[in-house]
Amino acid sequence: MSKVLVATEKPFAKAAVDQIKAVVTKAGFDFALLEKYTDKSELLEAVKDASALIVRSDKVTAEVIEAAKELKIVVRAGAGYDNLDLEACTSKGIVAMNTPGQNSNAVAELAFGMMISMARNAYNGTAGTELRGKKIGIHAYGNVGLYVAKIAQGIGMEVYAFDPFVDAEKIKADGVTPLASVEELYATCQYVSLHIPATPQTKESINYDLLRKMPKNAVLVNTARKEVIHEADIIKLMNERADFAYISDIAPDNKDAYTPFEGRYFFTPKKMGAQTAEANINAGVAAAEQIVDYIKNGNTTYKVNK
Ligand code: 3PG
Repeated sequence: MSKVLVATEKPFAKAAVDQIKAVVTKAGFDFALLEKYTDKSELLEAVKDASALIVRSDKVTAEVIEAAKELKIVVRAGAGYDNLDLEACTSKGIVAMNTPGQNSNAVAELAFGMMISMARNAYNGTAGTELRGKKIGIHAYGNVGLYVAKIAQGIGMEVYAFDPFVDAEKIKADGVTPLASVEELYATCQYVSLHIPATPQTKESINYDLLRKMPKNAVLVNTARKEVIHEADIIKLMNERADFAYISDIAPDNKDAYTPFEGRYFFTPKKMGAQTAEANINAGVAAAEQIVDYIKNGNTTYKVNK
């Protein structure tokens, strides 16, 4: 019988695990769970007899794929699949999928939680500022970007977006102003919210030249990936501009370099964007259903490898 393994170093909410298990067992498959593992050897052992694998940001490397002799499908319960070695999957005939859109609202809400906390000086009793009336630029207008736009509009922000892969008319239809270049986005908006994926092309692309264009009291909000940031460049800018702040869902590798900039940065200790019961249920159950649909019916709608 096919075994579906959920392997999450950062566990799903219990309700999500229960619902994933229900989908898997109802389809007649075995269910296995590996949570909070601290060493990759645990993952290598657990995948040995798994036919299907559900992960979050867990690294599914060529070594993991090699160990998973029975594997037919791996689903990243979430949007960004930079943690999957797609070439390794393809070379073994394994289908890789993600679950786009399922955790997007949670990520967008966290972006605003962090923005408001920064604007209110982390609630330390001093007078802060409001988001209403300020300009926000959405860098990449995908599923998360769309939710960010809606929340920003509700707050009363002026909303701009840059995304060369999305039709400008579609962006306009949402009441968002599309901008023609990434430089224009950063030059226009006090707040910039990042939603680009981590790829070889985007790696370290958010650099000094771009960020220095941002207006006074600039705030960069990163709920995407730390890899897209040029870390040394941000420190350079933090040193040059006392009005520049950086908030990120997960600390950069050089987080100790931020100590002198108290009050101008905030980092979550663990990636928290998708860490809600709702997002866990949405993404986890979607992953389980996609696995069942692939194994039983061959449905490859959300396939991300060749
Ligand atoms: C995603 O790409 O879906 C988010 O970054 C969530 O990642 P997580 O499942 O590791 O929290």
